[in-house]
Amino acid sequence: MRKLILAGMIAAFGFGGAAQAQTADAAIAARKAGMDLLAASTGALKRAVDAKTTEVKPLKGTADAMAAWAAAFPGLFPAGSDKGATKATAEAFSDSAGMMKAAMALNAAAMKVSAAADANDAAAFAVAFGEVGAACGGCHRTYRQR
Ligand code: HEC
Repeated sequence: MRKLILAGMIAAFGFGGAAQAQTADAAIAARKAGMDLLAASTGALKRAVDAKTTEVKPLKGTADAMAAWAAAFPGLFPAGSDKGATKATAEAFSDSAGMMKAAMALNAAAMKVSAAADANDAAAFAVAFGEVGAACGGCHRTYRQR
């Protein structure tokens, strides 16, 4: 299932192998579309936490997709994609190690949400969701323009 989701994302965003030669504009569009999907997924988790639902298991797939997206995101910064309709900061290009670290913080938080969902543990799910929110801000602070 994980592999299927990742394959689907690669197909949808076109950032696999041969597609590396895609234009900078396509990379920017993929970054933004992926972030918008990520925000929608985050909203789905938040609604479950806010509603204090005890049935968190169905959200495991959402969390898995978020984790996969976080790991893939730093690969979407080809040369030239610092210009145009992007809000990525110069640091997103000059400090790729820092960007990777920030992305993997989200990956780890989403994996915790996934594990909590898998165990249908609503309390652990809520705690892990807090880490997801912190990971968004942790990256945006440095790598996204206001
Ligand atoms: C590893 C860094 C990183 C993490 C983690 C991250 N973001 Fe982003 N986000 C960015 C960058 C960089 C941009 C700007 C992309 C661009 O314009 O090229 C962005 C843009 C966005 C946008 C605007 C997209 C658009 O259409 O312009 C939204 C919404 C967003 N992020 C939501 C989130 C949410 C919600 C989370 C956490 C669940 C999150 N992001 C986590 C780096 C990150």
